[in-house]
Order: sequence, then structure tokens, then C-alpha cells
Amino acid sequence: MKIAEYHSPVLFDECMQALILDPKGTYADCTLGGGGHSEGILTHLAPEGRLHSFDRDPEAIAYATKRLEGFKDQVTFHPVPFAELGHEVGPASLDGVLYDLGISSHQVDDDARGFTFQGSNPVDLRMDSRSDFSAQEWLRTNSLDDMARAFKENADLDRAYKLSANIQSVISDLKTPILPVHLRAATEKTYPDRIRDLNSILARIFQAIRMEVNGEMEQIRVSMRSAVEALKKGGRLVVISYHSVEDRTVKLVCSEFERTCLCPPQSPVCMCGGHHQKLKKVLRKPGLPTAEEIARNPRARSAKLRVYERV
Ligand SMILES: C[S@@+](CC[C@H](N)C(=O)[O-])C[C@H]1O[C@@H](n2cnc3c(N)ncnc32)[C@H](O)[C@@H]1O
Repeated sequence: MKIAEYHSPVLFDECMQALILDPKGTYADCTLGGGGHSEGILTHLAPEGRLHSFDRDPEAIAYATKRLEGFKDQVTFHPVPFAELGHEVGPASLDGVLYDLGISSHQVDDDARGFTFQGSNPVDLRMDSRSDFSAQEWLRTNSLDDMARAFKENADLDRAYKLSANIQSVISDLKTPILPVHLRAATEKTYPDRIRDLNSILARIFQAIRMEVNGEMEQIRVSMRSAVEALKKGGRLVVISYHSVEDRTVKLVCSEFERTCLCPPQSPVCMCGGHHQKLKKVLRKPGLPTAEEIARNPRARSAKLRVYERV
């Protein structure tokens, strides 16, 4: 498979510039994917520089291991969820941590992975296909309330309860795996007045289920808190997000570490010493892809880059 077919890295130059301040340093790429950003980091490093690359998808690890063969003395692969970062690297050991959140083009494009509403294979949505909890289990075992909450919170879908009820009615007697057409039928029934928007609604439904199946927001929260502890002073935290719930989670976690004072808001005077700040913003506003990048790689269109520095 050609490299660009697996995945084209987004905001590549901007990430390299923001992340690598010391070419002899040690870095972590928490979302290896096809290895585009990892390869960029390794290319910028001096021979003493080191990289830890994480991905929970064994296909990504296998593909990128081959791609990065020439750098094998400098890169260590971690085939685990990035929430494990704190167990895999020591405190104050990293000069930069990169997250390029979400899924790779390969995961969406390979119909057998069951990530796309346009596919013909069972809806799956597991980043790690060895996990025993796929979208099939999520759809079959959830209560109506939990399903509706996921559609509302993860994808801001209106009629979330009606949609959940329609999905449950379509799949309740199904003896075969749930296919994209079954979710399409429930979506058509829920939004008969929005048939022209159906594909974008389905994309949001799939995104909402994917976020639940992979515990995505909890992974971000746990991992980014560990990343703050794993960074050396002056080290960089560089994050690309692709939708508003991801971006909000990134901002919320980082805001915990931007505060100097940890006293409760009702406290009339500071009792904590006021020296708790661990992160400061490097970019006041998020970095966005250029029109030229979006034309070349439409998957970059919703990307937002946030950069923080460990203080
Ligand atoms: C957008 S792609 C990264 C693409 C990569 N930057 C490149 O240049 O090819 C996101 C990757 O992160 C992985 N991923 C997402 N969440 C993860 C998590 N919680 N733990 C480990 N890997 C994760 C996905 O499996 C996917 O391969």
C-alpha cells in the first residue's frame, strides 16, 4: 500500500515546528497511525534523539514498524492505548508529546474494519480489533437512555431518544450482525424531513458510537494528565482534534493545569500557595489548515491544533 493511501498526516509542518525544540530530546507520538508524523519527528531528530510511538491498533503498529525500519535504533513502539502513557515512560522524561486524535484514513477506508456508514460489513468501530467490545455489543446491550445520551453528548444529535428507539426496534429481532443499512433505516425513520442530510447525520451517528466503543474521551483525559507529568519543563504538548467534543475535552484538561491557584472559587484568600501552574498556552488561538492543505487532503478540514508548554 502506498504511504498516502494509509494516511496523510495533517498540519505536518506546524506540528514539527511546535513540537521539536531540541533535536537531541525524547518525544512521544501517542497516535502513530501510518507513521507520517512519527517519521517527520525522527527525520528532525539528531542521532541521540528518541521517539516513543503509541497505537492501540495492531495494523497501524505493523504498517509503521515497516515504514520506520530505517530508524529502528531511535524508535520504541508501544502497542497499547495511549492512556497507558504514564506506565510506559517516566516522569519529566519527555521533551514533547503529540496527539493526532481520532482515526486514520486506513481505518475508515478498509470496509472490513466496519468503520464507515457507506460500507457493507458489520458495524464494528473498534480501533483495536482484538478487543471483545465492538459496536455490535454496544448497540445490542445499551439502554435507551444511555444510547440517547451518547448521541446527544458525542454528536449533538437532536431526536436522540427517538433515534435510539428506532435503532433498537430495527435490530431487536435481527439474528445476523448489524450492518450499516440497518442504522440507515433507523436514521431515515427518525429524520424523514432531512433525507438530503442523511449521510452527514449517519457520519455523526457512527462517530458517536465509535467514541463510546473506544472510550475516546476518557482515554484523552487520562493520557493528557499523564503527559503533563511526563513532560520536562519547557516541553511541548501538541494536540490535533477533529470535532468540537474532542477539542472541548482537550481544552478542559489543559485548563486544569493552567491555573496557578487550586483553591475553591468561594475561598476569599489563596491558601494553596498559588504556584500550581503546569501548562501555558503557546498558541492563543488554534492553528488551522490552509485552504491549500484542505484542497490536497479534505480530511484536514476540521482539524484544530492546540499547543501548550510545560512550565
Ligand atoms: C489520525 S490517526 C494518526 C495518524 C498519524 N498521525 C499519521 O501521521 O499517520 C489516529 C491514530 O491514533 C490511534 N488512536 C486513537 N486513539 C488511541 C488511543 N486511545 N490509544 C492508542 N491509539 C489511539 C488510532 O488507532 C489511529 O491509528
